[in-house]
Parts: sequence; structure tokens; C-alpha cells
Amino acid sequence: MCGGFRAVDAGTRVRLGGWIHRSRDLGGLLFLDLRDSSGLVQVSFDPRWASPEAIAAAASAGVESVVLIEGDVALRPPEGRNPEMATGEVEVRAATISVVGPAETPAIPVSLGKGEKLASEELRLRYRHLDLRRPELRDNMILRHELQQATRRYLDEHGFLEIETPILTKPTPEGARDYLVPSRVHKGEFYALPQSPQIYKQLLMVSGFDRYFQIARCFRDEDLRADRQPEFTQIDIEASFIAPEDIYKLTEGLIAALFRVAGLKVPERFDRMAYADALESYGTDRPDLRYALKIFDATEIVRGADFGITRSAIDAGGRVRGLRIPGGASFSRKQVDELEAIAKSAGVAGLLRTKRVSGALDGPLAKHLPEGVADKLAIEEGNLCLLAAAPDATANPALDRVRQEVASRLGLGNGSNAFVWVTDFPLFTRDAATGALGSVHHPFTSPHPDDLAKVESDPEHVRALAYDLVLNGTELGGGSIRISDPRIQSRVFSALGISEADAQTRFGFLLEALRSGAPPHGGIAFGFDRIAMMLAGAQSLRDVIAFPKTTAARALFEGAPSPVTDADLQELHIRKQ
Ligand code: AMO
Repeated sequence: MCGGFRAVDAGTRVRLGGWIHRSRDLGGLLFLDLRDSSGLVQVSFDPRWASPEAIAAAASAGVESVVLIEGDVALRPPEGRNPEMATGEVEVRAATISVVGPAETPAIPVSLGKGEKLASEELRLRYRHLDLRRPELRDNMILRHELQQATRRYLDEHGFLEIETPILTKPTPEGARDYLVPSRVHKGEFYALPQSPQIYKQLLMVSGFDRYFQIARCFRDEDLRADRQPEFTQIDIEASFIAPEDIYKLTEGLIAALFRVAGLKVPERFDRMAYADALESYGTDRPDLRYALKIFDATEIVRGADFGITRSAIDAGGRVRGLRIPGGASFSRKQVDELEAIAKSAGVAGLLRTKRVSGALDGPLAKHLPEGVADKLAIEEGNLCLLAAAPDATANPALDRVRQEVASRLGLGNGSNAFVWVTDFPLFTRDAATGALGSVHHPFTSPHPDDLAKVESDPEHVRALAYDLVLNGTELGGGSIRISDPRIQSRVFSALGISEADAQTRFGFLLEALRSGAPPHGGIAFGFDRIAMMLAGAQSLRDVIAFPKTTAARALFEGAPSPVTDADLQELHIRKQ
């Protein structure tokens, strides 16, 4: 293979196949960098060892053409050695070349010259077959493969069976819209693509497969971002007779095994944080704990201050919470305005600013606080304090975003990793607009046994036996102990406004299974692409998926989705609007 040659191979006769990565014609003397999946090697065509025909053929072969060459490995002359190349001490002196896969001029560059920039992502997705030839993407695919193998090895060693579940199925509620597939043979009926294998893995527990896993493809029609794809891969896990502690222990080991693949160590045990504490101190259930920058509550300090903004917020049931930003006093007015704009986009009316410079507190709020009270805000020299006077529902997301922006500006936490299990989620959430209850995770999540009585009377205060694993502010995975008692499942459906008839139509098969002798069970699913993205140091899931979709859910390379003919639609019993 191209990338494997070293000085000890000098003198060996070799035959190689690969792509022309780069070509340099020095007039009668020609160098090609030949690339295959193992790397690059320099191939030289010189009249001393190649025929004029071979040199001419090499000179006329375009970059990215596939060639077969035969020649001898030789040490390069000292001045020609390249210490930055694994094969930089040697070259292959080619005697023959045949161009077996001629290439048209590539639409996007694979090998970048000095100072040359990558083509736009849109073009790279359009010409994905070329972009995947770039070593960076190839390395990401190799890493992805190794992570999959490590997952299989680890779970196999822990007694888990890999079982595949259907892709053409019934809707699985995970909070997104379904992708539907029309049935040709059953007029007017549709399959759904799975949002997750959730129900199937529970059925497997009922069937006695007490340790299941799958590297599972999931499909969700939802708003896309850099860390969301419409089809993505989960490491999906379920086990019977298990408690959250067992899942934490098992999967902390799995994460450690995956990070080892990338040469990284993780703590032996991950931190834990209750959902309510995460919201209180970080404004989000996905706290980035690489840096402190905790939200503090100034409500009691400013209560009673003769200041309209804080008074009206507190009177309306809101609080005054904010951040003390070390060194933030030196932010320019424009920089603070930008932070405020971020907060406003999350729904608060604005941010109150106070800073301590040369011992004195600055800002309108400080002026309205009685003598000595401002000091209770504990703003140290050089700190900027930003406060949101608002109900938690808007202050939390606003302060979360400001916190993240400040951290990225100050470079806080770079280079470290902070894992945390977020626990004690509420079971239900109430939609502010409609007042309807929804599941925070999914409707199969078990209520905390101590809160069962509140499912009907006080649903918003029912805790769930659910947990998420968060790394550096990104949700890597989430899971729960499930409801294994069909009576409790019916009560939860009912609290969610799912009628008995509706529950029967949508989930009758699960309820029936739960009535057939169901073990207590629970599990978790990790976003495999997200783990691969983080370990590859990539900024987008698209860099770790061979053929990803754009944020507009399009496959630019193959051109999907695409229109179908009227005849196809007719066969599927579908009329165009
Ligand atoms: P959940 O919906 O939290 O749980 O999904 C588990 C993990 O999958 C990843 N993920 C995604 N990755 C890329 N693109 C997406 N669109 C996307 N959506 C989710 C996240 C997330 O943490 N059945 C439950 C698991 C369980 O309860 O066992 C489930 O699917 O990293």
C-alpha cells in the first residue's frame, strides 16, 4: 500500500494502485504523489528508469485519475526527503504506468495547494465522492468504524446481544415528526420510520432478552442544526432487572472505551446533578461544566430597591438572576450590547449591567440600591454583572446563551472535558401555549415511585426515573427506567391526554406485552454521531457521516428528496395537492 513504505523497503520491486493526488512536471522528470487508503507515496518518472511512453502517459494523466504503476522503492536523495510525510524518506521509481480510471478535472480540489481553501460545504456535499477522498474525512470514517467496533466489543463482553429492529414500523413518539412510507398493498395506510427502537427494545425485554443493544438508525423530521441530522445513529441499550446506578456504571465504562479509541481518558465516575439544580445554576438541563460561571439569584438583594425594572419583574412573580463575569468589566459597550441582544433573542426584555472598576460599582441598578446593599451582589474588581429580571422560563434560556457566549469569548474550558449525569427530570412538561401536558422524554418513562400519587393530582411535580449524559453542554445520551406495569402506563397515557382508545390503537401491542409478564427494565441511547463528532474534533455531524443531509434535510449528492411520477403516486394511492 502507498502509505506503508519506509527506508527499509528500498530495493523492493512493487506494484501499486491508487489515485494521483498531486503531479509535478519538471520537464522530462515527473513526480506524482500516489494516494490510497493507507496514505501517500511519491512516485518518480525519470528517463533513467522509465520509458518515454511511460513518462508521457504519467504526464497526461489528470489528478484524481486511478493508475497502476510498477517500480522500485528507493531512498530519496537527502535534499529530496520530506520529514512531514510518513513515506518521506523513499520514493517509488516507476517503470510502467497504466491509467485504469481516468478522471475528469475534479469539481472540487481533493489536495489543497498552499493557501488554498476548501470548497464551500454545499459544493463538497454535492461532490461528496471527491470530498470523502480528503484525508481528514477518511480519518473521520476510520474513527467512526473503530468506535463502532469498540461499542460492539464492550457490550458483547458485558453480555449484551445485538438485535436489529424494524425500519418500516409504527410511529415511536420521541418528540419529532415521523417520516411516513406509504403502503402500496394496503391502500391509505402508512409505515413510519422509527424515531428510535424504543418500543421494540422494551418488547425484547418482555420476551426475556435481558441485555439488548443495537447500533440503530433513527429518523426524525425536526428542525436541523449542526448536531442534528434527520437520520442519525444511536447506540441503543436496554436491560432488565436494572437500576439507574447500573446503567451509569455500565455506560461510563462504554464511554471510557470509546474515548480510549481516540487516546483520551475520562474520569472513573461522572458527576451527577439534579435537573432543578442544573436549571438554577446554569439555566439549562445541558450544563457545560468545563467552566464555573454560575447563575446567581439576586432577587432578595434587590427586592425593595427603588428600581422599576426589578420591582415589576419581582411583583409579577419573576426573579432577578444573573452572572458575574470575571474580567468582563473590560468588555466594550458594543460587546455587552451583543450579549444583551443574545439574551433578548431568548425572550427577556434586556439585561441590567453593573461592573466594578477601581473599587466602585457602576450602572443604574447599583445607583438605586441602598447604601451597602450593592456590595451584597459580591461583584469583584474587574467583574461585569449581568442580570435578567424575568420569569425563570425566559431568564433561563437567556442566561444559558449569554453564559455560553461569554465562555467562548473568554476561551473558558477549552481543551477539557466535563461529563455530568443530569437526573431527577420532571416526567411531564406543560405547553405554555396550549396548556397540554407532554412527556419530557417519552411516554414510557417511569414516574419516580414516591411521586406516583401525583400523576393525576399534581403532574408537574412528578419526577421521572430519567437521566441524560451531558458532555461540555451537549446531550450525548438519555434514558430512563421504563414503566413495566400496564396500569401505570395507562395512567400516564391518560395524564398525557391520550384516550384509552387512542392508546390502544397506537400502543396496544406494547400494553398487551406489558400484561404478559414484564420484567422491570430500563436503558439509554447515545447519539453515536455526536460522540464521533466530538472525538474527531469536528464541528458538525456532517463531518462524521459518509453521506449526510444538509440543514434543509436534502441529500445534495444523490439529490434526495426528489419528485416521483404520477404513475408511482397512483400506485401508492396518493394524490398530489
Ligand atoms: P433521545 O431522543 O434522547 O432518546 O435520543 C438519544 C440521543 O440521540 C441523539 N440524537 C440525535 N443525534 C443526531 N441527530 C438527531 N436528530 C438526534 N436526536 C437525538 C442525542 C440523544 O441524546 N429512546 C430514547 C432513549 C431511551 O430512553 O433509551 C431516545 O431516543 O445524542
